[in-house]
Amino acid sequence: CGITGYIGYRDAYPIVIKGLKRLEYRGYDSAGIMMFDGTKIQLSKTKGKVADLEDIINKEQSRKNGNLGIGHTRWATHGVPNNVNSHPHTSQSGNLVIVHNGIIENYDALRKELISRGYVFKSDTDTEVLINLIEDVKKNEACKLGKAVQLALNNVIGAYAIAVFDKAKPDEIVVARLGSPIAIGVGKDNTEFFIASDASPFIEYTKNAIYLEDEELAIIKIGKGIKIHKIKGDAQVHANVQKLKLSLDQIEKSGYDHFMLKEIHEQPKAIIDTYRGRMLADEGIIRLSGIDDNINRFLNAERIIIVACGTSWHAGLVGEYLIEDKARIPVEVEYASEFRYRNPIITSKDVVIAISQSGETADTLAAIKLAKAKGAFVFGICNVVGSSIARETHAGAYTHAGPEIGVASTKAFTTQITLLTLIALKLASKKGEISKPQLREFMQEMQLIPKKIEALLKIEDKVKEIAAVYKNATNCLYLGRGFNFPVALEGALKLKEISYIHAEGYPAAEMKHGPIALIDENMPIFVIATSKGHYEKVVSNIQEIKSRAGKIIAIVTEGDTQVREIADHVIEIPETAEALTPLLTTIPFQLLSYHIAVMLNKNVDQPRNLAKSVTVE
Ligand code: G6P
Repeated sequence: CGITGYIGYRDAYPIVIKGLKRLEYRGYDSAGIMMFDGTKIQLSKTKGKVADLEDIINKEQSRKNGNLGIGHTRWATHGVPNNVNSHPHTSQSGNLVIVHNGIIENYDALRKELISRGYVFKSDTDTEVLINLIEDVKKNEACKLGKAVQLALNNVIGAYAIAVFDKAKPDEIVVARLGSPIAIGVGKDNTEFFIASDASPFIEYTKNAIYLEDEELAIIKIGKGIKIHKIKGDAQVHANVQKLKLSLDQIEKSGYDHFMLKEIHEQPKAIIDTYRGRMLADEGIIRLSGIDDNINRFLNAERIIIVACGTSWHAGLVGEYLIEDKARIPVEVEYASEFRYRNPIITSKDVVIAISQSGETADTLAAIKLAKAKGAFVFGICNVVGSSIARETHAGAYTHAGPEIGVASTKAFTTQITLLTLIALKLASKKGEISKPQLREFMQEMQLIPKKIEALLKIEDKVKEIAAVYKNATNCLYLGRGFNFPVALEGALKLKEISYIHAEGYPAAEMKHGPIALIDENMPIFVIATSKGHYEKVVSNIQEIKSRAGKIIAIVTEGDTQVREIADHVIEIPETAEALTPLLTTIPFQLLSYHIAVMLNKNVDQPRNLAKSVTVE
């Protein structure tokens, strides 16, 4: 879910509604806004997108009035997406208003208790429980809003980022966080403040931001400023104001139809941004301070465990192939959600690498905390600077891909792989597994990748033609081997996510142990058959498909003739080192999914049921 709000001297509505649109990547099954015009609380909320909310509000000018507003865009956890369950929620008296991102795990017990005290609930949400709990505490303790929120949160188990407004305190908003991010934009001389799940809603107004830490609560007051307290205990915390580097341009579509397409095309630059200053190819040096500063932890590691979710998990699998192949350190790759709950064996000899674009994924964050508690050294690979995971890890490196807004991850994936390649090479060179000339040669090859991706992006029309042929398929198979097996998984995930076509990724040789039963003349099979890396074996796999009448779309290396003869379509990628092929083979799959989804009229940037940043477990 996404939260945003404004309190100050400007009209709040345009700021809040625009902010919600920027946060819509975080969830978009319902949206709502509360406006306060000095006397009246005005709630507008609906199932659907922020644009649907806007339509409703546009019909009634009075819904826009006021210099204070809070808004929410939802990704449902408790309660189906409908108008009633949409946020903001009000307390029983109607005087307190809340927006909430996260889950209150003990909501059922709290709800029952509140019902026994006469509270009546309008919605099925855990959030309404929380706001009534705050109201109840405020009444019983006869305290101010900030205190009531704090006391209530001490009774709550779960995760949250919240913003609370009290009609009796019209110059104030209280925010708090545990597990879900919240940023506060600070205007000049305490005349205005912004709140949001990330800084994108307010960058054109202020570059000064405070990121709340877990278990902190802030009372934001016009004319007075911001007071931050610990939620447990009462200690006051110094407000650390940071200067934002984000620019407005970075979060807009720059002429592309969708963020996803923009982000696909940004990959050459994003990859350069990832290795810039880190890869000194001519000197044969890799600089990664997070590794240099902790080199003994890495060199003494008995194994590396990579934890991640979704696309980042796929990047982790490529990382496993890279690190084992280059640095000869055993690597395990784990879904963070499984790892954290299966009583894993972790020791202080382990190094854990956590990969997360958003740096906020709840399961990944929890896996990190567990690994730390067991003495492992934890290294983070994140894209979002200052995110929870970036802060929770002992050391790390940012991918520097720039904001990724499209829900289907693209440039985050290739930049994660770029960084994992640097890590593998760095460890290989420190361990003496790679000679200086070999390292230099590999890095020089790597520097050619952005140009090769640029060349590959020019085949978009060809990919479109293939998309048009297969857009009505109901099942697809993606096959790859070695470094490109994870690319097959990622290719299938991309198609599922945005076109809702069922797709499976498989190691090419494993196909005969099951998926082969699915193959008939209606089944498109996307095979990665690049020249290096088990080429002949993949060709045999392709023959097996051919003899069962499956449709073959092969990704091959430029100049290939053998596969061309048997495949229905081929897409050529430029020649490169085998370990670098995932950075190229993944591009046609991204374009293919994108164009199929566009042809099917799907919402590419905001596919149904998904969210970009999953801050619930
Ligand atoms: C969500 C997103 C995916 C992403 C995954 C992990 O499911 O829709 O695109 O790969 O979370 O996110 P992270 O931010 O941790 O990389």
